[in-house]
Amino acid sequence: MSHPIDVRNQQLYDLEQFAVPQAVKNDLQGILLPQGLIDNRVARMGEEIAKNYAYGNTLAICVLNGAQHFYQQLLNSVFPSVHNDIQLESIKCCSYDGTKSTGEVQINGLDFTAVRGKNVLVVEDIIDTGLTLSKLAQKLYEHDPLSLEIACLLDKRERRNPQATVKPEYTGFIIPDRFVVGYGLDFNGRYRLLPHLGVLKEEIYQK
Ligand code: HPA
Ligand code: MG
Repeated sequence: MSHPIDVRNQQLYDLEQFAVPQAVKNDLQGILLPQGLIDNRVARMGEEIAKNYAYGNTLAICVLNGAQHFYQQLLNSVFPSVHNDIQLESIKCCSYDGTKSTGEVQINGLDFTAVRGKNVLVVEDIIDTGLTLSKLAQKLYEHDPLSLEIACLLDKRERRNPQATVKPEYTGFIIPDRFVVGYGLDFNGRYRLLPHLGVLKEEIYQK
């Protein structure tokens, strides 16, 4: 359904080629996806989603914290005129601690009774092992949504766990197995406001 852009073999852009906040320059190896490219890809994903959700009765779930910026940008392009038809909710899935997935998932912040009979769209920033999202999708299915789809900005396919059952309907980019920050994604709470998607220096997350 979606045609993700595969940047697994793409060279990083030099930090001098784009406007990068001085405060984070020293911590990055380079830019993988410049802001303008992400924004337009997200707008395109929004067009696809808008077609499929034209009938309303939608519950759009933002998976905090990483997806917040993507969610905002996506909804701005999906539903410019029918914002009020959509129920917006945010949840927090706790499974990520620094750079290591633990496999344990706790889901907070959603009254699951809101799911019944809705066209549910889950908005996620990045899929790597896929285990968190698989567990979230299972849990949502238990509450009888009318439909359930997943929009994911980034897919780190190399890291997929074979036990992960989930397949996003909308994917922005397939990226290499490197630690990325920016466009809402963080490392221990930092770098979320970087407008581009950058690759973090290994010395930063291996400290
Ligand atoms: N960066 C930030 N958060 C993440 C990543 C990443 O590369 N992979 C999974 N969660
Ligand atoms: Mg996430």
